[in-house]
Amino acid sequence: MKVLVTGGLGFIGSHTVVELLNNNYEVVVVDNLYNSSIDVVDKIKIITGRDFKLYQEDVCNKEKIDEIFNMEKPDAVIHFAAYKAVGESVNKPIMYYRNNLVSTLNLCEAMQKYNCKKIVFSSSATVYGNPDVLPITEECRVGGTTNPYGSTKLMNEMILKDFTIANDDFCAVILRYFNPIGAHESGLIGEKPNGIPNNLMPYIVRVASKELKELSVFGNDYPTHDGTGVRDYIHVVDLAKGHLKALEYNNRGIDYFNLGTGIGYSVLDMINTFERVNKVKVPYKIVDRRPGDIAECYADPTKALKVLGWKAELGIEDMMRDSYNFILKQKGN
Ligand code: UD1
Repeated sequence: MKVLVTGGLGFIGSHTVVELLNNNYEVVVVDNLYNSSIDVVDKIKIITGRDFKLYQEDVCNKEKIDEIFNMEKPDAVIHFAAYKAVGESVNKPIMYYRNNLVSTLNLCEAMQKYNCKKIVFSSSATVYGNPDVLPITEECRVGGTTNPYGSTKLMNEMILKDFTIANDDFCAVILRYFNPIGAHESGLIGEKPNGIPNNLMPYIVRVASKELKELSVFGNDYPTHDGTGVRDYIHVVDLAKGHLKALEYNNRGIDYFNLGTGIGYSVLDMINTFERVNKVKVPYKIVDRRPGDIAECYADPTKALKVLGWKAELGIEDMMRDSYNFILKQKGN
């Protein structure tokens, strides 16, 4: 089976390409290197001992996407390519809407033209907004997104829903990720945000490796067990494996799955566990809440287990170890 992976050199994309190659899929990556780097190609080849094709193109370029589909005739698409910085999306909404929506529209048109029937889409728990109930099931209300990035994820889901309604032999699997962290155990690929990280784990590893002075903990007055925000962190390798299960799933129309562990950890839990596992200090200070943040968010991942046969296998200690190992390898330690 030939799979076209957009954004296949990014954080989640690269780990998914590794799993695909390890499972004998033929892989074609389309990535414009906006938020990824070309040396990931060699890293993936070293890890897997296998080759894949790369088109260094923008998924928003309709003519190029048409050409690529014409040449490659993929059997399925996994669509990761998107802008993903929440704060930036608030300041540059049109850039986010254009990039994150046009790419999907182009893919849908090419899929229709070249008879490619399946798409797996990279969505986010952010579509649930501030959840009414916990843990979050796929039946929970969506909407109430608090930033343009989150809105583009929800709009993409709506586009794919309408697309599958109008074309009843097409199918879409929507994967709603909780908080992906960790890295491949080789330490060769992982998360490399440009500039100062916004997300918790990339920030923690940079404080631990002394690139940044201290972590700011955004609020300790939430209604959680220690007052700090609680999230469902999931190892990126587990998440990558979920995409293979989604490809293998013979569904009709559209279906939605939460990919999380079902366990919530607070910011302080994360700091303490990181320090214990990696035997390194993470200095921090408590500051005000970050606007738009919610107190608690964790998945009910039962549906993914029942329907896809997928379950997160790696624990919080694996996530801590692999995140730190990646940054140390980057620094040549
Ligand atoms: C964020 C995005 C979400 C996106 C996800 C990708 C927001 C509001 N949401 O989720 O849409 O899908 O990233 O992984 O940005 N924290 C600190 N100090 C820091 C950074 C974070 O205390 O320097 C806290 C946050 O307040 C939160 C937790 O750590 O309680 C996790 O934050 P983060 O890693 O940014 O993820 P989310 O906010 O859950």
